[in-house]
Amino acid sequence: MFADHRGARPQVVNTVARGQLHEDSYFYTGVIQGANGYREEQNLMPFPATAAVLARGQERFNIYCTPCHSRVGNGLGAIVDRGYKPAANFHDQVRMAQPLSHYFYVMTHGYGAMPDYSAQLTPVDRWAVAAYIRALQLSQAATQADVPAGAQVRDLKDIAEEKHLPAGFAEPWKLPSTAVQAYPSVTKEGYPAMAPANPADPAITIPRSKPAGQ
Ligand code: HEC
Repeated sequence: MFADHRGARPQVVNTVARGQLHEDSYFYTGVIQGANGYREEQNLMPFPATAAVLARGQERFNIYCTPCHSRVGNGLGAIVDRGYKPAANFHDQVRMAQPLSHYFYVMTHGYGAMPDYSAQLTPVDRWAVAAYIRALQLSQAATQADVPAGAQVRDLKDIAEEKHLPAGFAEPWKLPSTAVQAYPSVTKEGYPAMAPANPADPAITIPRSKPAGQ
């Protein structure tokens, strides 16, 4: 159609399509330019984490992350149980210390054996999932100071006993021993609290207290 045989004119350099300016680079990338190492600003949500945002995050997390990380985020999802590389345990010291934007970054770019989820999750959803992971982390390591007056943080074991649940309900989460053998470096690095009671059956110990009534 044109003299150079193209059907459309090339974009003028530095033009931006309508709605794609992406001026808020933290919202779209989770990265603060020039920041090396941990900075408190990288631990912030770019928009308020309301109850609706957390509910959306929980829904997306349960769809896209639980197959590998499990519903409680301990990294022992069904796919790992079938031999996939153990996925990160969001309750270990390494993951608890990571800033919120790290979760956004991992969902955007993938991480090691984990594929990226940028096609499945829009930026807003990725932040919602990150916020929900923080809520999961808090839920598993709550102290009395975290709950409103009148509510009580109790040991899961006591709740299990009271509700006549099987004793195993409150036991530490366990990686399948095949995964421990196949990925010794991941299990060592990713599960620092692992305390093998029986060498053939190593267990991961993480805080299991939850506020009453949840
Ligand atoms: C197909 C399995 C799979 C799915 C689904 C998956 N992950 Fe992962 N994830 C992994 C594995 C495996 C690792 C450990 C990567 C490694 O060590 O190679 C990991 C690691 C991570 C880490 C830790 C990165 C670090 O710095 O240690 C984060 C955070 C994470 N995943 C978040 C998510 C979120 C959020 C979702 C859902 C959107 C998700 N993952 C879905 C397999 C998965």
